[in-house]
Amino acid sequence: MSDAISSMLHESRVFEPSAHFLSNIGPLNVPDMGAYERMYRQSMDDPITFWGTIARAFRWYRPFTEVLDWNCPDARWFADGTTNVCANCVDRQVDDGFGDDTAIIWEGEPCAPEPEIRRITYRDLQREVSRTANALKSMGVRRGDVVTIYMGMVPELTITMLACARIGAPHSVIFGGFAASAIVDRVSDAKSKVIVTCDGSWRRGQVVPLKQSVDEACERLPDVAHVLVVRRTNAPITMREGRDQWWHEVVTRQADDCPCEEMGAEDLLFLLYTSGSTGKPKGIRHTTGGYMVFTAFTAKTTFNLVPGRNHVYFCTADIGWITGHSYIVYGMLPNRVPTVMYEGAPNFPAEDRFWSMIARHRVTHFYTAPTAIRAFMKWGDEHPARHDLTSLLLLGTVGEPINPEAWMWYHDKIGLKRCPIVDTMWQTETGGHIITPLPGCTPTVPGSCTLPFFGIDAAIVNERGEPLAPNQGGLLVIRKPWPGMLRGIHGDRARYIETYWSKVPGMYVAGDGARRDERGYFWIMGRIDDVINVSGHRLGTMEVESALVSHPAVVEAAVVGMPHEIKGTGIAAFVTLAPSSTGSADASLRKQLAEHVTREIGAIARPDMIRFTAQLPKTRSGKIMRRLLRDIAAGKDLTQDTTTLEDFTVLAKLRESDE
Ligand code: WT7
Repeated sequence: MSDAISSMLHESRVFEPSAHFLSNIGPLNVPDMGAYERMYRQSMDDPITFWGTIARAFRWYRPFTEVLDWNCPDARWFADGTTNVCANCVDRQVDDGFGDDTAIIWEGEPCAPEPEIRRITYRDLQREVSRTANALKSMGVRRGDVVTIYMGMVPELTITMLACARIGAPHSVIFGGFAASAIVDRVSDAKSKVIVTCDGSWRRGQVVPLKQSVDEACERLPDVAHVLVVRRTNAPITMREGRDQWWHEVVTRQADDCPCEEMGAEDLLFLLYTSGSTGKPKGIRHTTGGYMVFTAFTAKTTFNLVPGRNHVYFCTADIGWITGHSYIVYGMLPNRVPTVMYEGAPNFPAEDRFWSMIARHRVTHFYTAPTAIRAFMKWGDEHPARHDLTSLLLLGTVGEPINPEAWMWYHDKIGLKRCPIVDTMWQTETGGHIITPLPGCTPTVPGSCTLPFFGIDAAIVNERGEPLAPNQGGLLVIRKPWPGMLRGIHGDRARYIETYWSKVPGMYVAGDGARRDERGYFWIMGRIDDVINVSGHRLGTMEVESALVSHPAVVEAAVVGMPHEIKGTGIAAFVTLAPSSTGSADASLRKQLAEHVTREIGAIARPDMIRFTAQLPKTRSGKIMRRLLRDIAAGKDLTQDTTTLEDFTVLAKLRESDE
């Protein structure tokens, strides 16, 4: 048992809602545990009334008459209703008289002499989104066409997403840290013909050459007809005649108004690609009505957002991941609480960047990942201590289990011992929070994501679907549909069923191992598939393996997770070399291979450890012994062999029986 897991098993500190929070947050959406239990029970016993009531508070063109049509594994929510997500995020606020309220506070990374700040009101957003929507239309984008977005964290990214939603063109955002080949895979899978990008993006004082990666990808994407380019860094780029256009030339000359398309609740809102256990990333499908209702309602409830009380919310995620989609953009704007968007790195120009931003913008809600918190701890307490963090009311974490040490540091040094921490468990597939404390309500325990959100019938079961006793580890499942759930994997129905619905028939299997303690609190123990969670980012071990074997020196590769102080899970690669390369199994080849993976996938996939082995340890039936490799990577089962090429075959024979 790892030290982290054993300390979580014995965690017993309980934190009740703080007086500071209760007296400053405004009215509580869920005032106490009695209310939580009543609402949870209602959401389980009568989900139709529960979700119907919440959904009716949004703007619909044609009101829905049926809340849910459930034919496992296919859910249709509010299906005969029509609406538009952009209208609910933007136009509605303007029409209700809040056009001059701040929707987005954006801060660029460069900050000499001062950081560049843009405050965007709902009215600004309405104008900019409409112009952008018209520009997309001028490029031939029609309802149903997928638009690919590969941008840095600039306001134009949010504007483009909303413009797509406005005209009914699903977007597919690709994280700007991914390499050209990731663009190729995703653009071809989505059959997307238009890409919106930036000349480059600022990251730690350097330019990330986004447009260059798009150009490289387009060499293999003959169907891409238009590339729209935001000028951000002034990095030298080439514009291809007939295909590439500048944002500042095309968008600015468009008309200021563009009607919202009337979309069916089950029309596709976006695709977001995420890693699974095979090499090919899957395009998770989220649709209009259910996703809108679920993200806005979870945001409002989990963060206890109250419009008009000077709340300022800052989520440090990149919009290229689901956290940014749901809790920088779609969940926030309908709640009319300003959302902070930051362009760059947390340690630029220094390790106190986030703390200076919290002080500068009087941030009340701060949402980040355990991996970031562990980095802050390492950077030192003096960084937060130098800044005024007294505006903070609530802290959140997401992405991976948080170790109690990091939780306590966050609580003490950032929350000044008086802010509740919401440890929100969810996934790209769930659209929004599924297990989370509610602030001012749920007593928290460091390391536990506590209790299920309303409407989420979460349970720990065995492979036959039978619920397990307290503290027994098993599969995390959800037994009822919920509005924000994925509607499938783009173009791959078989994989949708196989991945989520076949391990335990009739239940959604999240892919995580977990347990519930005596008080019913959930503790996530980690992925049970070949997915690893590196710095809160999901990566398929097979993707890294494919990248490695595409290098001429490599014949075979096995990738497993290993404990890592900052990243939570690091990447360990075991590599067998081609006979012609065995002589060069040295540090320089290691570096070459690591760089190769970075080029193929992106820096997040760069292995932390590469070991050369004469043979990969395999069972008699030829399966790679991953558990043995995980133990070796964790340093638990080291061989005595110190020659350059390690030989794990003897160990494999000893261990075969327990794999
Ligand atoms: C996987 C989903 C949801 C946004 C970020 C990641 C892990 C996520 C927690 C948490 C323990 C967590 C799970 C999950 N995870 N949040 N609070 N506690 N584990 O989204 O890339 O779809 O990854 O992240 O393993 O399955 P994602």
